[in-house]
Amino acid sequence: MSVKVEDKELLELELLTQAIKMLYGWDFGQYKKESLRRSANRLASKHNLKNISELIPKLFCNELLLNDLLNCFSIPVTEMFRDPGFFLTLRKKIIPILKTYPFIKIWHVGCASGQEVYSMAILLHEEGMYDRARIYGTDINPLQLKKAKEGIFEVDQLDVYKENYYKSGGKHDLMDYFSLKYDAFIFNNKLRKNIFFFEHNIAQDHAFGEMNLILCRNVLIYFDATLQCRAINLFNESLCFGGALCLGVKESLDFMSINPGLELFDKEWKIYKKGFV
Ligand SMILES: C[S@@+](CC[C@H](N)C(=O)[O-])C[C@H]1O[C@@H](n2cnc3c(N)ncnc32)[C@H](O)[C@@H]1O
Repeated sequence: MSVKVEDKELLELELLTQAIKMLYGWDFGQYKKESLRRSANRLASKHNLKNISELIPKLFCNELLLNDLLNCFSIPVTEMFRDPGFFLTLRKKIIPILKTYPFIKIWHVGCASGQEVYSMAILLHEEGMYDRARIYGTDINPLQLKKAKEGIFEVDQLDVYKENYYKSGGKHDLMDYFSLKYDAFIFNNKLRKNIFFFEHNIAQDHAFGEMNLILCRNVLIYFDATLQCRAINLFNESLCFGGALCLGVKESLDFMSINPGLELFDKEWKIYKKGFV
């Protein structure tokens, strides 16, 4: 009996994700299979392996491959002021609401290498809110979190970041917040004191905080519907009444049969509010 290549690869992928879970604790079991399958195939060819299952024994001893695999599966793509229109909407529609609170907590879920978190710090500073805010950046990928804590970015991204900042309603020069060093630019220390990065896995860990604002952009898109539901319920639990949840432009709550009590606040930028809008 011949087995279709796709079916064989899905079985190999299942074994690979089980091995990762047993050896390292990360559970990719409820991520979208097609995207994981493509990533695993790319990784196998990069390491000159014939198929996905050949990755499994390498996981025991090859740290480089494990790092590659984590980066492939978690897709840590990001930029500063990504989707400038979204940051402009935050500035115009969400910040005025947050200004009514004496103290605010913001959680960036799946923050990758931290650009979104530093963008938020700049935005809050320009709106006179930084000193009464705590900003938490979490991710499953420790390699990306290490980069996030360093706050050092490659200079070849600078032009895109400057343009995004300008389009997002930035009030100064982006370089007021960085110092240039060789081929990198480094985030200023004065805006780091209220930023905290740590590991948190929304597929496995619990809710935390009484957050005024949660951003989980371009993360749920990689999850199956069950895991998306888990994440949304966790965010709902972590949000205070009146708090807002921001998803990525290709994400929404439309797939949920039961509305968890989050109302659409901005349709274009997928911003939801807990309680009345
Ligand atoms: C495409 S990046 C999005 C980065 C940023 N939010 C943005 O929109 O620019 C997705 C990030 O989600 C993280 N991620 C994936 N699964 C996660 C999980 N279960 N819990 C927390 N973070 C996760 C990945 O490691 C990756 O850094």
